[in-house]
Amino acid sequence: MCGIVGYTGGQQAAPVLLSGLTRLEYRGYDSAGLAVRNGEADTVVVKAEGKLKNLSEKVDGGHALKGLCGIGHTRWATHGAANERNAHPHASADHNVIAVHNGIIENYVEIKEKLTHKGYEFSSDTDTEAVVNLIDYYYKKYKVGPIDAIAKTLVRVRGSYALAIMFKEYPGEIYVARKDSPMIIGTTGDETFVASDVPAILNYTRQVYYIGNLEMARLTPGHAEFYDLNGDIIEKPLTKIEWNAEAAEKQGYEHFMIKEIHEQPKAIEDTMKAYVKMGDDGLSTIDFSEAGLTKEILADVSQIHIVACGSASHVGYVAQYVIEDLARIPVRVEMASEFRYRKPILDPKGLVVVISQSGETADTLEGLREAKAQGIRTVAIVNVKGSSIAREADHVVYTYAGPEIAVATTKAYSCQLIASYLLAITCAETKGRLDAGQVSDLLMEMGTIPGKIQTILEDKERVQRFATGFAAMHDAFFIGRSIDYAICMEGSLKLKEVSYIHSEAYAAGELKHGTISLVEEGTLMIGVLTQSNVYEKTLSNMQEVKSRGGFLMGLTTAGNYTVEDTADVTFYVPKTDEHFAASLAVVPLQLLGYYSAVARGEDVDKPRNLAKSVTVE
Ligand code: F6R
Repeated sequence: MCGIVGYTGGQQAAPVLLSGLTRLEYRGYDSAGLAVRNGEADTVVVKAEGKLKNLSEKVDGGHALKGLCGIGHTRWATHGAANERNAHPHASADHNVIAVHNGIIENYVEIKEKLTHKGYEFSSDTDTEAVVNLIDYYYKKYKVGPIDAIAKTLVRVRGSYALAIMFKEYPGEIYVARKDSPMIIGTTGDETFVASDVPAILNYTRQVYYIGNLEMARLTPGHAEFYDLNGDIIEKPLTKIEWNAEAAEKQGYEHFMIKEIHEQPKAIEDTMKAYVKMGDDGLSTIDFSEAGLTKEILADVSQIHIVACGSASHVGYVAQYVIEDLARIPVRVEMASEFRYRKPILDPKGLVVVISQSGETADTLEGLREAKAQGIRTVAIVNVKGSSIAREADHVVYTYAGPEIAVATTKAYSCQLIASYLLAITCAETKGRLDAGQVSDLLMEMGTIPGKIQTILEDKERVQRFATGFAAMHDAFFIGRSIDYAICMEGSLKLKEVSYIHSEAYAAGELKHGTISLVEEGTLMIGVLTQSNVYEKTLSNMQEVKSRGGFLMGLTTAGNYTVEDTADVTFYVPKTDEHFAASLAVVPLQLLGYYSAVARGEDVDKPRNLAKSVTVE
């Protein structure tokens, strides 16, 4: 949801900013802009509508802009159309203050009105321009320095922001502020960077500071000084990023999405390695001590609410079936965007589990805060270290997917599944529903998932052929029951978000209550059948569709060959414990989405209208 980058040091800033923005383009790509300053000279602002390459062409890859200090932005429009006028950076009329912003200023209308009365004029429709002018207003009215002017502004604005700001009277310096939008600061000793996400600066440094909520910083070449809202200096530790720049490169794959699909076996292994240990008795056990999640804590849990958005909530639906079946703890899955507004009733002995790849999703973060405000214990399953959700949750179970760049999640989803199986098994053990031997057997079976995914990937051309043949379709439906229904939700989202083919996931038994009227000759219906207790039922529902002219694709477990009597085409995944079926069945569906989008010539890694990290509500 918008990417920001800033640089001050000894190199020409514009190429550094463009290279950083390239790695942030997944966060938004409807316009982009740079502000670069050459010493004491006036700052030059250049913007372009559309993808980053338009801006890059305009400034000759950055070589047309001279200066050692600058800020850049790639936008995902919220306020104001996606055009050059609304592209960032935004400047006060006299260019005293120039800034880039990620987030939303909720009370920008009221700020704009106030400033208009004071004589300020606005040249865009954005909320950002209101903040820029407010900083300028306080700076001049109170004749204070940048930090005090920003602090006064932050007290007035409501909403979320990561701001990088340049002041006319402070050449070579960048000021930053943050609330509920991600931002990291990197340094090499004689250069300083700011960015929305780590990949933007990994080519230059792996030493970063995490700036906290309602904190500000002054960046000079090689140095970052942090302040709280009172303007008092605060100390921050430097953290070393564990992964390197190659992890955020395509490494020969055509797209990040297909690279990340292939990285799933390794990502799952890494996530399991963090929590699964071998005991002296030769039995595998789960160790959540890294998360501070003891068996005593879990033994007492009366109910679980899983709060998440999009694919992460689809993990929640799988987890619901697995936890309820194994541990017999009631689980409710909550769409984070609805959770806090319906004033949830939470049992004091309940547990709220939030799931998020980015750790910055605004709705999920607010759901977490709602739970904390009610005094409920919270667990976060998160991929990004140091993210807001990771910092605010009581317990953090990290997934080890590494950087996920494609907008459509694949490997993070798979690792979230693993983390939730581990949670389910731990809960079941603490509730006395599984003994040590059964736990070990389940963990051994989980250990086979990476190899089985590898087998599915080796046969990816078959999915590719099918996807290419069906790429011209308008609609697709996914049906399944229980865990299969949860798999359908993710399969359907993967298909529609990257290929733009309309698709819906339905609980198989529910189809005939209305939606089946959409089935006509040739409508693609994908039936997912990995759960033996509902296999025959889903098969009957597929038969109902076939009788009405639908074209049936079956996705089932090896051995279930009777599907072929009903389905027109069938894909098989290896056998596993049925609780873990989503980990395998999702892979052909990820491939289906990917190859359909490729066949249609869509921009797979950056689907239209989307952004990777949704930091606005
Ligand atoms: C879909 C997708 C989204 C995210 C959702 C939550 O492919 O990636 O639906 O799952 O926006 O994002 P995180 O996990 O970062 O909270």
